[in-house]
Amino acid sequence: MNAPRHFLQFRDLALEELEHLFARTRVIKERFKRYERYWPLADRTLVMIFEKASTRTRLSFEAGMQQLGGSAIFLSTKDSQLGRGEPVEDAAQVISRMCDAVMIRTFEQSIIERFARSSRVPVINGLTNEYHPCQILADIFTYVEHRGSIRGRTVAWIGDSNNVCNTWLQAAEVFGFNVHVSTPPGYEVEPERAGLYRTDHYEQFADPMDAARGAHLVTTDVWTSMGFESENETRRRAFADWQVDVEMMRAAQPDALFMHCLPAHRGEEVTAEVIDGPRSVVWDEAENRMHTQKALLEFLLLGKVND
Ligand code: CP
Ligand code: NVA
Repeated sequence: MNAPRHFLQFRDLALEELEHLFARTRVIKERFKRYERYWPLADRTLVMIFEKASTRTRLSFEAGMQQLGGSAIFLSTKDSQLGRGEPVEDAAQVISRMCDAVMIRTFEQSIIERFARSSRVPVINGLTNEYHPCQILADIFTYVEHRGSIRGRTVAWIGDSNNVCNTWLQAAEVFGFNVHVSTPPGYEVEPERAGLYRTDHYEQFADPMDAARGAHLVTTDVWTSMGFESENETRRRAFADWQVDVEMMRAAQPDALFMHCLPAHRGEEVTAEVIDGPRSVVWDEAENRMHTQKALLEFLLLGKVND
């Protein structure tokens, strides 16, 4: 049996494969909008393992799999043996014998990597402490839909150097764009944790206004990610000046977009005026999770389809 392809971090797909995925996303999205049946994954099953909460990721994978003719099974650590200390490798052996792909949302990246090493089927990262590759697939697809190629553009990341930020930085290497990052002191990007080969495609700014200046896209995320709740109060104080507001959007390009992976906290990392304003594309971004992931599932299970 050939080793399966996985999507554990953004760089697991080459530029040419990502471009294929985007072309397929356009086809798949149009078919969905026309209510046209497209069932290439009939009789295929996706198992979704969640160790953290989710709305978009669960829904987009579950609905997406059904729309492709397959089915999706939800497992959480709360009500399976996964939460009772069964070794990850044993779980991977068993689960991957009963399905065609596995999506996992968990804590350390090492958990999903161990799972993938023992899995007979493709494993997809649905968010770890380090990365959120499916999110950035949707985000870049959304940027391209609204503004064309992202190559050579500048993305401003304001806030925590978290899983979503790390994935933007990896994607910038692959697609050839720049990221201006501004985090509070003590929360800077760690290139090794971000899994970066280079550091010349991003720049760190002490002042978030400087990071936003001239950017084509301004994006942010919650101040406290899942799993770090005990730091909530400290983070609220540290991040108080890292809020995307109208003034910050004014410093960016006149047609700059605003994105947020959601869920958002209005009045913390972003003002209501920005996220609910004309530059915000957060609803398209959320919807595109489903279309891009359907293309990803098609690619991982069937290879390059061109019909
Ligand atoms: N953006 C995102 O992954 O959302 P959920 O946590 O709701 O899945
Ligand atoms: N950085 C956030 C993203 C949620 C989709 C978290 O990990 O909680």
